[in-house]
Amino acid sequence: MKRNKFTITIVGHGYVGLVTAAVWADLGHKVYVIGRNREKINKLNHGEVYFYEPGLKKLLQRNLKSQRLKFTLNYQEALTNTDMVIVCVNTPGNHDGGADISAVINVSKKIIKNLQANFTVLAIKSTVPVGTNRKLLKLLKKYQKPGKRFAIVSLPEFLREGTAIKDTLHPHRIIIGVEDKRAEKLLLTFHRRFKAPILITNLESAEIIKYASNAFLSMKISFANLLSFLCEKTGANIEEVIKGMTMDKRINPHFFKAGIGFGGSCFPKDIKALTRILNKYQIDASLLNGVGKINQLAWQNAAHKTLKLVGSLKNKTVALWGLAFKPGTDDIREAPALKIIDWLLKKGAKIKAYDPQAMKNTLQKFDNVLYCKNALAAVENADVLIIATEWPEFKKVDWQLVKHRLKKPNIVDGRNLYYPDKMKQMGYNYLSSGR
Ligand code: UDX
Repeated sequence: MKRNKFTITIVGHGYVGLVTAAVWADLGHKVYVIGRNREKINKLNHGEVYFYEPGLKKLLQRNLKSQRLKFTLNYQEALTNTDMVIVCVNTPGNHDGGADISAVINVSKKIIKNLQANFTVLAIKSTVPVGTNRKLLKLLKKYQKPGKRFAIVSLPEFLREGTAIKDTLHPHRIIIGVEDKRAEKLLLTFHRRFKAPILITNLESAEIIKYASNAFLSMKISFANLLSFLCEKTGANIEEVIKGMTMDKRINPHFFKAGIGFGGSCFPKDIKALTRILNKYQIDASLLNGVGKINQLAWQNAAHKTLKLVGSLKNKTVALWGLAFKPGTDDIREAPALKIIDWLLKKGAKIKAYDPQAMKNTLQKFDNVLYCKNALAAVENADVLIIATEWPEFKKVDWQLVKHRLKKPNIVDGRNLYYPDKMKQMGYNYLSSGR
């Protein structure tokens, strides 16, 4: 019988590390998570999560209780009897846009120095530039203890914030960059239970697949936004254009919506990092530069629509619905809403904002915004409403009530949530993207 329970050590407890750890423990594996911040490790061991991800807290608490999950600062403890180590530390953008891989290198060195088993798989889930894993392998060999063999694997992660648990439990694909037969066998056995197609590649292909996937999706969104600018100038409708385009089976309709642009911890960072990689190999990266530029134009285009509706913004009150870069998260990294806040404040506007999850995080950046207890409170006496995140509750609002509360019935819908004709019928000056 093939084994189906493993002991796994995960390094890092951000979105990827923590979700992966909780889900894998819930599948019956024994999971150790290594961190470096005592306070965070203590909190996690008491079932407290310091960011919002639907379902995560419950999953974490259940698996702490069953003792399948443990957080620790101690490498030795976490590496006893481990089958594989998964590195999930972050690789933030450098000043030049490249990925900072120092955390990956540092923790990998510590792991190799503390290895206990005769054979260990070291899988890198952190997003790293092509070539990193091969270089890492060479570097780590220097620290290898006699008789403690290890294999490096590139195991890119594709989970999305807001649906991270579902994505980990039911991945669409599993990419394993591996060149060591024993490691390949172990990873195939481990991943067998997920009913997703598995692709085995070399280290470099797996590294590129991760960046390429995020860059391609960003490109799709920027392409929709580029077309939406043209639709606005010519009287076409972006939704009709995309519907017509995607009737061609070669053009997939998913993830192809125009609006105020993409944000988050991955897309903006990864297109910059891929640009750097292309530059390093003297490959023209203007396609990706364009993707980034259009993404800036997307929020700027929405912001300028407020001027169209209210003239000057000086001393005007702007209601802002949505701060998170997308619904289902409290993450505001690179969120278009924050760029709009900055722009509005510079224009002298007062801002009343509401977001179901992200107000606490936004307060850290902007203490001169009035944070409201609900969507209706935010529109009270406002000259214009901007919708920046497609939280489901914004789809269910009572528009008569909203109209009553607004000083002027002006709306800039950055996520194309409503029907323009209906909004006009209700007496709104309603502007959306490309329609
Ligand atoms: C992304 C990838 O989807 C995931 O596979 C990878 O592992 C990490 O990066 P995430 O950052 O959680 O995940 O966000 P995602 O759901 O992909 O959305 C990214 C941004 O694109 C959001 O700001 C969203 O609002 C925007 N978006 C998405 C659009 O503007 N239009 C669309 O049609 C789809």
